[in-house]
Amino acid sequence: MTDVSTIGVIGAGQMGAGIAQVSAMAGYETLLWDANEAALEKGIQGISKRLARLVEKEKLTADEAKAAESKIKGASSVSEFSSCQMSIEAIIENVEIKQKLFAELDATLPAGAILASNTSSISITRIATSTKRPESVIGMHFMNPVPVMKLVEIIRGLQTSDETYAVTKAVSEKMDKTTVLGVDSPGFIVNRILCPMINEAIFLLQEGVEREDVDNAMMLGTNQPMGPLTLADFVGLDTLLYILQLLHRELGEDKYRPCPLLVKYVEAGWYGKKAGRGFYTYE
Ligand code: CAA
Ligand code: NAD
Repeated sequence: MTDVSTIGVIGAGQMGAGIAQVSAMAGYETLLWDANEAALEKGIQGISKRLARLVEKEKLTADEAKAAESKIKGASSVSEFSSCQMSIEAIIENVEIKQKLFAELDATLPAGAILASNTSSISITRIATSTKRPESVIGMHFMNPVPVMKLVEIIRGLQTSDETYAVTKAVSEKMDKTTVLGVDSPGFIVNRILCPMINEAIFLLQEGVEREDVDNAMMLGTNQPMGPLTLADFVGLDTLLYILQLLHRELGEDKYRPCPLLVKYVEAGWYGKKAGRGFYTYE
């Protein structure tokens, strides 16, 4: 079985920075790269802050935090990933952009290395077509916020090998996650169920229900830790819209049509918490 010691993470946004953090905390040498230099810097700073917070809360010793921090290195391009036995992609949810990156990763990582994607909805089989190693391409769907959420949904493409699956499961478990095996169909398990629920919440808002009433109804009435509109802001409205459009297009059912109000918010650049404004406003 492939022995993984170095993991390359691409995308240092909300998800990529969290994945790099849990990778380093699990003891993997971790390279982190983002096309946007400022995003890379912000991602690395966020990791340091979260590790310091864990020390404050006595969930980690100062030495453990230091050891984790020393395992993360920022990279200046994908060409630095030639020492990785595994890469985990967490860039923008767009199939063409992901495929272009996977072709580059395929040309850079050694034979046998695993190319994983944290995509929320896109077919793993399709992403794999941009590489010459479809057997080593797999979905490794972490949940947001990565350091807190216990799940990794693993998705096997049509050609993913048993070995790639076994190594990905083992790496996820070393990162202290529990895995489920999803299906390579739009939205897999979690987003097939979650995104239509959030979409309905946005329809209610569009129909005039107060946002706090929508959120409180679901928090107090169904014990969700955050209401669906807050969760939408937290996920990112751009990502949510992309997922709903893909579900709608590829499953062909009207029930997945994105709410027009969501489309408008994304057009306005109100992407949620990361943009400072979504259904709510943020500092
Ligand atoms: N990064 C790291 N840690 C974080 C964090 C973050 N962004 N946000 C919160 N935490 C930690 C806090 O430090 C705190 O840790 P301790 O218990 O050790 O003190 C813990 O999480 C709880 O945080 P808070 O007390 O501040 O707030 P909370 O109790 O409201 O919990 C939450 C925050 C964990 C985010 C909770 O609201 C929650 O579970 N929300 C739902 C999250 C969810 O559904 N995620 C899945 C989204 S869907 C997805 O990811 C798939 C997709 O493809 C779109
Ligand atoms: P984000 O917008 O916070 O971060 C994306 C990062 O990717 C940005 O820093 C951006 O600069 C970088 N990037 C964009 N194109 C790039 C490229 N071609 N090469 C290198 N870097 C590039 O987004 P996010 O919420 O972290 O989502 C990332 C991925 O994770 C998406 O596929 C998304 O669907 C998936 N995902 C998101 C969530 C969520 O709740 N937000 C949960 C699970 C999975």
